[in-house]
Amino acid sequence: MIPKPAPIPHGADLHRAIERFGFAPAGKPWLDLSTGINPWPWPAREHMTHLPEAAWHELPGPDAQVQAAFDAAYGPGALPVPGSQAAIQALPRLWRRHLGRAHVQVLWPSYGEHAARWGLEGHAVHLHAAAALGRTAADVIVIAHPNNPTGDTFDASRVRALAAACRLLVIDEAFLDAADGPSHAQLGLPNVVVLRSLGKFYGLAGLRVGAVLASPAWREALAAELGPWSVGGLALQLAAAALRDTAWRATMRQRLQVAAQSLGIVLARHGLAHQGTMLFRTVITARAAILHEALARQGVWTRLFDLPAPSGHRGPDFQALRLGLPPHEAALQRLDAALAATVPMLENP
Ligand SMILES: Cc1ncc(COP(=O)(O)O)c(C=O)c1O
Repeated sequence: MIPKPAPIPHGADLHRAIERFGFAPAGKPWLDLSTGINPWPWPAREHMTHLPEAAWHELPGPDAQVQAAFDAAYGPGALPVPGSQAAIQALPRLWRRHLGRAHVQVLWPSYGEHAARWGLEGHAVHLHAAAALGRTAADVIVIAHPNNPTGDTFDASRVRALAAACRLLVIDEAFLDAADGPSHAQLGLPNVVVLRSLGKFYGLAGLRVGAVLASPAWREALAAELGPWSVGGLALQLAAAALRDTAWRATMRQRLQVAAQSLGIVLARHGLAHQGTMLFRTVITARAAILHEALARQGVWTRLFDLPAPSGHRGPDFQALRLGLPPHEAALQRLDAALAATVPMLENP
């Protein structure tokens, strides 16, 4: 019998709120803040009519114009992939097949798919807080820059040190478009694989497009592992158009900065210290689960992280609440009101 797969929790899970509470308990539609996806996506629909007819009908072969758009946005030789998730799954498979069983150190807490996918392929996975990575021998180290959900970043000297401490350093830069600072792909380190995503900043999560920056050997191995035509022609054309739209990018960065600041001001007003990126703010607190539940009862759905400390490591569990950007002023005010009704209750139980 094929075993039942263990669930890997993610945000963007409003269906779970609906299953549990039905329609929003406060009698209003749900305010879904459970994802870090840009609520003001790049306007793909407007570009649909400009797509070449062949993108619908022909198998997507090499396309110099698409490649040029990816190269300009992410760096030379950027390999388009069907979401960075596809690369997250392919890397452990590739390593297993060609290089055997790896000792893998994965940043904790972080995007849960990394540890899960290396584990599913039978690799020995060790979770580590950022400062503990690379202290003992590892074949592979996986980090996220900036990290989801903490927003923590890694500077170039730390990245060089981590790359020197392992055979392959995977850097998940899915949220980098919505943060400051350059990609670590620019360091040109031969044993580094960098993952980018059009699902977050561009808000095109449904398009399933990301990119991988890596040495030619890793790039070619990944391309072969993902197989021919892994990204659809329409998705490639739309992604390239989004990446070429530097005016939209500049305006959106400003808009997100303002929105993240406004969200931060509301959280701070209720005594909630926060960190994160321009696409989400995370409140790290031992009261995260209670806060999550109380907000849900008012129709505001957030992403709860309630993660046990890694085994073998002394230190606290990680409890946090991640909030995506409210899509308009009324939504921000609704969050403000929900927090006003919730936070004092937590302080005086
Ligand atoms: C940190 C991080 N990396 C990668 C992904 C995968 O995104 P995608 O496959 O849409 O590029 C996610 C999705 O939530 C994420 O949070």
